[in-house]
Amino acid sequence: MASPRRNASHGEAARSDSSPTYTPATPRSRFAAEFSPEAFDEPGAGEAPSAKESVTATVRFRPLSSREIRQGEEIAWYADGETIVRSEHNPNIAYAYDRVFGPTTTTQQVYDVAAQHVVGGAMQGINGTIFAYGVTSSGKTHTMHGDQRSPGIIPLAVKDAFGIIQETLNREFLLRVSYLEIYNEVVNDLLNPAGKNLRIREDLQGTFVEGIKEEVVLSPTHVLSLIAAGEEHRHIGSTNFNLLSSRSHTIFTLTVESSPFCESNEGETVTFSQLVQRVQGLKQQEHAGRKGLISIKVC
Ligand SMILES: Nc1ncnc2c1ncn2[C@@H]1O[C@H](COP(=O)(O)OP(=O)(O)OP(=O)(O)O)[C@@H](O)[C@H]1O
Ligand SMILES: [Mg+2]
Repeated sequence: MASPRRNASHGEAARSDSSPTYTPATPRSRFAAEFSPEAFDEPGAGEAPSAKESVTATVRFRPLSSREIRQGEEIAWYADGETIVRSEHNPNIAYAYDRVFGPTTTTQQVYDVAAQHVVGGAMQGINGTIFAYGVTSSGKTHTMHGDQRSPGIIPLAVKDAFGIIQETLNREFLLRVSYLEIYNEVVNDLLNPAGKNLRIREDLQGTFVEGIKEEVVLSPTHVLSLIAAGEEHRHIGSTNFNLLSSRSHTIFTLTVESSPFCESNEGETVTFSQLVQRVQGLKQQEHAGRKGLISIKVC
Protein backbone atom coordinates (compact mmCIF):
# COMPACT_ATOMS: atom_id res chain seq x y z
CA MET A 1 0.00 0.00 0.00
CA ALA A 2 1.41 3.39 -0.74
CA SER A 3 -0.10 6.78 -0.29
CA PRO A 4 0.32 9.35 -3.03
CA ARG A 5 0.36 12.03 -0.34
CA ARG A 6 2.98 14.69 -0.76
CA ASN A 7 5.68 14.90 1.90
CA ALA A 8 5.00 11.35 3.02
CA SER A 9 7.26 10.62 5.96
CA HIS A 10 7.88 6.92 5.45
CA GLY A 11 11.22 5.34 4.58
CA GLU A 12 11.03 5.63 0.82
CA ALA A 13 10.22 9.32 0.81
CA ALA A 14 12.89 10.07 3.38
CA ARG A 15 15.58 8.81 1.03
CA SER A 16 17.37 11.61 -0.73
CA ASP A 17 20.52 10.22 -2.40
CA SER A 18 20.41 9.72 -6.11
CA SER A 19 23.06 7.05 -6.65
CA PRO A 20 21.35 3.79 -7.74
CA THR A 21 18.54 3.76 -10.26
CA TYR A 22 16.49 1.49 -8.04
CA THR A 23 16.73 -0.57 -4.89
CA PRO A 24 15.24 -4.07 -4.88
CA ALA A 25 12.67 -4.16 -2.10
CA THR A 26 12.61 -7.92 -1.61
CA PRO A 27 14.40 -11.03 -2.78
CA ARG A 28 13.18 -11.89 -6.24
CA SER A 29 11.98 -15.36 -5.34
CA ARG A 30 8.35 -16.09 -6.11
CA PHE A 31 5.95 -18.63 -4.80
CA ALA A 32 4.24 -19.86 -7.89
CA ALA A 33 1.96 -22.63 -6.64
CA GLU A 34 -1.00 -22.75 -8.96
CA PHE A 35 -3.95 -24.67 -7.67
CA SER A 36 -4.20 -28.20 -8.96
CA PRO A 37 -5.96 -31.21 -7.49
CA GLU A 38 -2.75 -33.28 -7.96
CA ALA A 39 -1.07 -31.04 -5.41
CA PHE A 40 -3.07 -32.87 -2.77
CA ASP A 41 -1.28 -36.14 -3.46
CA GLU A 42 -0.07 -37.45 -0.16
CA PRO A 43 3.69 -37.89 0.34
CA GLY A 44 4.95 -41.47 0.50
CA ALA A 45 6.04 -43.11 3.75
CA GLY A 46 9.00 -41.32 5.30
CA GLU A 47 8.87 -38.60 2.65
CA ALA A 48 8.70 -35.01 3.90
CA PRO A 49 5.78 -32.97 2.56
CA SER A 50 7.00 -30.58 -0.11
CA ALA A 51 7.17 -27.01 1.19
CA LYS A 52 8.13 -23.76 -0.45
CA GLU A 53 8.56 -20.47 1.24
CA SER A 54 8.47 -17.05 -0.34
CA VAL A 55 7.73 -13.42 0.37
CA THR A 56 6.68 -10.94 -2.27
CA ALA A 57 6.16 -7.19 -1.82
CA THR A 58 3.68 -5.25 -3.93
CA VAL A 59 2.68 -1.59 -3.88
CA ARG A 60 -0.74 -0.20 -4.71
CA PHE A 61 -1.25 3.50 -5.38
CA ARG A 62 -4.70 4.88 -4.77
CA PRO A 63 -6.03 7.82 -6.78
CA LEU A 64 -6.07 11.25 -5.17
CA SER A 65 -9.34 11.84 -3.33
CA SER A 66 -11.56 14.76 -4.30
CA ARG A 67 -10.55 16.46 -1.06
CA GLU A 68 -6.86 16.13 -1.94
CA ILE A 69 -7.51 17.47 -5.44
CA ARG A 70 -9.41 20.43 -3.94
CA GLN A 71 -6.50 21.10 -1.60
CA GLY A 72 -4.06 21.09 -4.52
CA GLU A 73 -2.21 17.93 -3.43
CA GLU A 74 0.13 16.45 -6.01
CA ILE A 75 1.24 12.93 -6.69
CA ALA A 76 4.71 12.40 -5.26
CA TRP A 77 5.40 8.82 -6.39
CA TYR A 78 4.16 6.94 -9.42
CA ALA A 79 4.23 3.47 -10.93
CA ASP A 80 6.86 3.38 -13.65
CA GLY A 81 5.96 0.14 -15.41
CA GLU A 82 4.94 -2.94 -13.45
CA THR A 83 7.73 -3.13 -10.89
CA ILE A 84 9.23 0.32 -10.31
CA VAL A 85 8.08 3.13 -8.01
CA ARG A 86 9.63 6.43 -9.06
CA SER A 87 9.70 9.87 -7.47
CA GLU A 88 7.92 12.64 -9.37
CA HIS A 89 10.36 15.15 -7.97
CA ASN A 90 13.59 13.30 -8.62
CA PRO A 91 13.43 10.62 -11.32
CA ASN A 92 16.74 9.21 -10.08
CA ILE A 93 15.02 7.94 -6.95
CA ALA A 94 13.24 4.70 -7.65
CA TYR A 95 12.55 1.38 -5.96
CA ALA A 96 11.76 -2.03 -7.35
CA TYR A 97 9.06 -4.34 -6.03
CA ASP A 98 7.66 -7.64 -7.18
CA ARG A 99 4.71 -5.72 -8.59
CA VAL A 100 3.46 -2.13 -8.58
CA PHE A 101 -0.20 -1.27 -9.20
CA GLY A 102 -1.23 2.17 -10.45
CA PRO A 103 -4.31 4.12 -9.35
CA THR A 104 -6.59 2.66 -12.03
CA THR A 105 -5.95 -0.95 -10.96
CA THR A 106 -8.98 -2.76 -9.52
CA THR A 107 -8.84 -4.80 -6.31
CA GLN A 108 -9.70 -7.89 -8.37
CA GLN A 109 -6.52 -7.33 -10.40
CA VAL A 110 -4.49 -6.89 -7.22
CA TYR A 111 -6.04 -10.08 -5.85
CA ASP A 112 -5.29 -12.09 -8.99
CA VAL A 113 -1.63 -11.14 -8.97
CA ALA A 114 -0.79 -10.74 -5.29
CA ALA A 115 -3.17 -12.93 -3.31
CA GLN A 116 -4.75 -15.69 -5.35
CA HIS A 117 -1.71 -17.96 -5.22
CA VAL A 118 -1.54 -17.54 -1.44
CA VAL A 119 -5.16 -18.67 -1.13
CA GLY A 120 -4.58 -21.57 -3.55
CA GLY A 121 -1.55 -22.58 -1.49
CA ALA A 122 -3.46 -22.47 1.79
CA MET A 123 -6.14 -24.73 0.33
CA GLN A 124 -3.36 -27.22 -0.46
CA GLY A 125 -1.94 -27.14 3.05
CA ILE A 126 0.65 -24.35 2.77
CA ASN A 127 0.29 -21.57 5.31
CA GLY A 128 0.08 -18.09 3.86
CA THR A 129 -0.21 -14.51 5.05
CA ILE A 130 -1.47 -11.48 3.16
CA PHE A 131 -0.30 -8.38 4.94
CA ALA A 132 -1.48 -4.85 4.14
CA TYR A 133 0.72 -2.08 5.46
CA GLY A 134 0.71 1.68 4.99
CA VAL A 135 0.14 5.13 6.43
CA THR A 136 -3.31 6.34 7.40
CA SER A 137 -5.60 6.76 4.40
CA SER A 138 -3.30 4.85 2.05
CA GLY A 139 -6.06 2.34 1.20
CA LYS A 140 -5.53 -0.70 3.44
CA THR A 141 -9.19 -1.08 4.41
CA HIS A 142 -10.32 -0.35 0.85
CA THR A 143 -8.00 -3.05 -0.47
CA MET A 144 -8.57 -5.71 2.20
CA HIS A 145 -12.29 -5.25 2.98
CA GLY A 146 -13.58 -3.17 0.07
CA ASP A 147 -17.28 -2.52 -0.32
CA GLN A 148 -20.28 -3.85 -2.25
CA ARG A 149 -19.09 -2.23 -5.47
CA SER A 150 -15.48 -3.26 -5.14
CA PRO A 151 -15.01 -6.30 -2.85
CA GLY A 152 -11.68 -6.46 -1.07
CA ILE A 153 -9.03 -9.16 -0.81
CA ILE A 154 -10.77 -10.85 2.17
CA PRO A 155 -14.16 -11.42 0.49
CA LEU A 156 -12.43 -12.39 -2.76
CA ALA A 157 -10.25 -14.89 -0.90
CA VAL A 158 -13.19 -16.37 0.94
CA LYS A 159 -15.15 -16.75 -2.30
CA ASP A 160 -12.15 -18.36 -3.94
CA ALA A 161 -11.63 -20.78 -1.04
CA PHE A 162 -15.22 -22.03 -1.25
CA GLY A 163 -14.94 -22.20 -5.04
CA ILE A 164 -11.88 -24.45 -4.71
CA ILE A 165 -13.78 -26.68 -2.27
CA GLN A 166 -16.58 -27.10 -4.80
CA GLU A 167 -14.10 -28.06 -7.50
CA THR A 168 -12.22 -30.52 -5.31
CA LEU A 169 -14.52 -33.51 -5.36
CA ASN A 170 -12.06 -35.98 -3.85
CA ARG A 171 -11.52 -34.15 -0.55
CA GLU A 172 -13.60 -32.92 2.32
CA PHE A 173 -12.83 -29.66 4.07
CA LEU A 174 -13.39 -28.06 7.43
CA LEU A 175 -13.00 -24.27 7.54
CA ARG A 176 -12.76 -22.15 10.68
CA VAL A 177 -12.28 -18.42 11.05
CA SER A 178 -11.08 -16.11 13.78
CA TYR A 179 -10.90 -12.35 13.77
CA LEU A 180 -9.03 -10.17 16.22
CA GLU A 181 -7.86 -6.62 16.64
CA ILE A 182 -4.76 -5.20 18.29
CA TYR A 183 -5.66 -1.90 19.86
CA ASN A 184 -3.17 -0.04 22.05
CA GLU A 185 -1.11 -3.23 22.18
CA VAL A 186 -4.06 -5.20 23.57
CA VAL A 187 -5.51 -8.17 21.67
CA ASN A 188 -9.32 -8.29 21.51
CA ASP A 189 -11.49 -10.99 19.97
CA LEU A 190 -13.78 -9.40 17.39
CA LEU A 191 -15.96 -12.54 17.20
CA ASN A 192 -16.52 -12.57 20.95
CA PRO A 193 -17.09 -9.25 22.72
CA ALA A 194 -16.15 -10.87 26.06
CA GLY A 195 -12.71 -11.85 24.70
CA LYS A 196 -10.67 -8.82 25.76
CA ASN A 197 -6.96 -8.52 26.46
CA LEU A 198 -6.14 -12.04 25.26
CA ARG A 199 -2.69 -13.50 25.79
CA ILE A 200 -0.28 -14.58 23.08
CA ARG A 201 1.10 -18.02 23.94
CA GLU A 202 3.52 -20.40 22.36
CA ASP A 203 3.61 -24.19 22.42
CA LEU A 204 5.30 -26.87 20.38
CA GLN A 205 2.92 -26.25 17.49
CA GLY A 206 3.66 -22.53 17.37
CA THR A 207 2.23 -19.20 18.46
CA PHE A 208 -1.45 -18.83 19.26
CA VAL A 209 -3.89 -16.47 20.92
CA GLU A 210 -5.22 -18.07 24.08
CA GLY A 211 -8.99 -18.37 24.26
CA ILE A 212 -9.73 -16.88 20.85
CA LYS A 213 -13.04 -17.92 19.37
CA GLU A 214 -12.93 -19.95 16.18
CA GLU A 215 -16.15 -20.34 14.24
CA VAL A 216 -16.72 -23.21 11.82
CA VAL A 217 -17.95 -21.63 8.57
CA LEU A 218 -20.20 -23.13 5.92
CA SER A 219 -20.40 -20.55 3.15
CA PRO A 220 -18.90 -17.24 1.96
CA THR A 221 -22.01 -15.43 3.23
CA HIS A 222 -21.50 -16.99 6.64
CA VAL A 223 -17.88 -15.74 6.79
CA LEU A 224 -18.81 -12.25 5.63
CA SER A 225 -21.60 -11.99 8.20
CA LEU A 226 -19.11 -12.93 10.95
CA ILE A 227 -16.66 -10.28 9.72
CA ALA A 228 -19.44 -7.69 9.58
CA ALA A 229 -20.44 -8.55 13.16
CA GLY A 230 -16.79 -8.35 14.21
CA GLU A 231 -16.40 -4.93 12.58
CA GLU A 232 -19.15 -3.65 14.89
CA HIS A 233 -16.81 -4.22 17.84
CA ARG A 234 -13.80 -2.64 16.22
CA HIS A 235 -12.17 0.62 17.26
CA ILE A 236 -12.41 3.31 14.61
CA GLY A 237 -11.91 7.06 14.73
CA SER A 238 -10.84 9.78 12.38
CA THR A 239 -7.51 11.31 11.45
CA ASN A 240 -6.70 14.47 9.56
CA PHE A 241 -6.35 12.33 6.47
CA ASN A 242 -9.10 9.76 6.90
CA LEU A 243 -12.57 10.39 8.28
CA LEU A 244 -13.14 6.66 8.80
CA SER A 245 -9.77 5.58 10.04
CA SER A 246 -9.22 2.09 11.46
CA ARG A 247 -7.59 2.79 14.79
CA SER A 248 -6.62 -0.83 15.35
CA HIS A 249 -4.71 -3.52 13.49
CA THR A 250 -6.70 -6.62 12.63
CA ILE A 251 -5.90 -10.24 11.85
CA PHE A 252 -8.42 -12.41 10.05
CA THR A 253 -7.46 -16.10 9.99
CA LEU A 254 -9.01 -18.83 7.90
CA THR A 255 -7.95 -22.28 9.08
CA VAL A 256 -8.33 -24.98 6.46
CA GLU A 257 -8.36 -28.69 7.26
CA SER A 258 -8.87 -31.24 4.54
CA SER A 259 -8.68 -34.98 4.10
CA PRO A 260 -9.32 -37.42 1.27
CA PHE A 261 -13.01 -38.02 0.78
CA CYS A 262 -13.49 -41.74 1.37
CA GLU A 263 -15.96 -44.01 3.12
CA SER A 264 -13.41 -45.42 5.54
CA ASN A 265 -11.50 -42.91 7.64
CA GLU A 266 -8.77 -45.38 8.52
CA GLY A 267 -5.26 -44.06 8.01
CA GLU A 268 -6.45 -40.79 6.55
CA THR A 269 -4.07 -37.84 6.44
CA VAL A 270 -5.43 -34.45 7.37
CA THR A 271 -3.83 -31.44 5.68
CA PHE A 272 -3.83 -28.37 7.90
CA SER A 273 -3.00 -24.81 6.99
CA GLN A 274 -3.74 -21.26 7.95
CA LEU A 275 -4.43 -18.29 5.75
CA VAL A 276 -3.76 -15.13 7.69
CA GLN A 277 -4.76 -11.68 6.52
CA ARG A 278 -3.44 -8.75 8.43
CA VAL A 279 -4.09 -5.06 8.16
CA GLN A 280 -1.50 -2.96 9.88
CA GLY A 281 -1.10 0.78 9.84
CA LEU A 282 2.17 2.58 10.27
CA LYS A 283 1.19 4.35 13.45
CA GLN A 284 1.84 1.56 15.98
CA GLN A 285 4.18 -0.51 13.92
CA GLU A 286 7.20 0.05 16.10
CA HIS A 287 5.42 -0.99 19.27
CA ALA A 288 3.78 -4.03 17.73
CA GLY A 289 7.11 -5.14 16.31
CA ARG A 290 8.88 -4.81 19.60
CA LYS A 291 6.43 -6.88 21.50
CA GLY A 292 6.38 -9.47 18.74
CA LEU A 293 2.64 -9.50 19.02
CA ILE A 294 1.76 -11.05 15.73
CA SER A 295 3.81 -14.04 14.92
CA ILE A 296 1.54 -16.75 13.62
CA LYS A 297 3.62 -19.77 12.90
CA VAL A 298 3.40 -22.41 10.27
CA CYS A 299 1.88 -25.63 11.61
N1 LIG B 1 -7.71 2.19 -4.84
C1 LIG B 1 -8.62 3.07 -4.41
N2 LIG B 1 -9.52 3.61 -5.26
C2 LIG B 1 -10.44 4.52 -4.84
N3 LIG B 1 -10.54 4.96 -3.56
C3 LIG B 1 -9.68 4.45 -2.66
C4 LIG B 1 -8.67 3.49 -3.03
N4 LIG B 1 -7.95 3.20 -1.93
C5 LIG B 1 -8.49 3.91 -0.94
N5 LIG B 1 -9.52 4.68 -1.36
C6 LIG B 1 -10.31 5.61 -0.55
O1 LIG B 1 -9.39 6.36 0.22
C7 LIG B 1 -9.89 6.57 1.55
C8 LIG B 1 -8.89 6.00 2.57
O2 LIG B 1 -8.76 4.61 2.38
P1 LIG B 1 -8.76 3.58 3.61
O3 LIG B 1 -9.80 3.93 4.61
O4 LIG B 1 -8.82 2.22 3.00
O5 LIG B 1 -7.33 3.84 4.23
P2 LIG B 1 -6.58 3.05 5.40
O6 LIG B 1 -5.22 2.75 4.89
O7 LIG B 1 -7.41 1.91 5.86
O8 LIG B 1 -6.45 4.17 6.53
P3 LIG B 1 -6.39 4.02 8.13
O9 LIG B 1 -5.03 3.49 8.49
O10 LIG B 1 -6.59 5.42 8.62
O11 LIG B 1 -7.50 3.10 8.53
C9 LIG B 1 -11.24 5.87 1.61
O12 LIG B 1 -12.25 6.83 1.36
C10 LIG B 1 -11.19 4.88 0.46
O13 LIG B 1 -12.47 4.57 -0.06
MG1 LIG C 1 -8.36 1.45 7.60
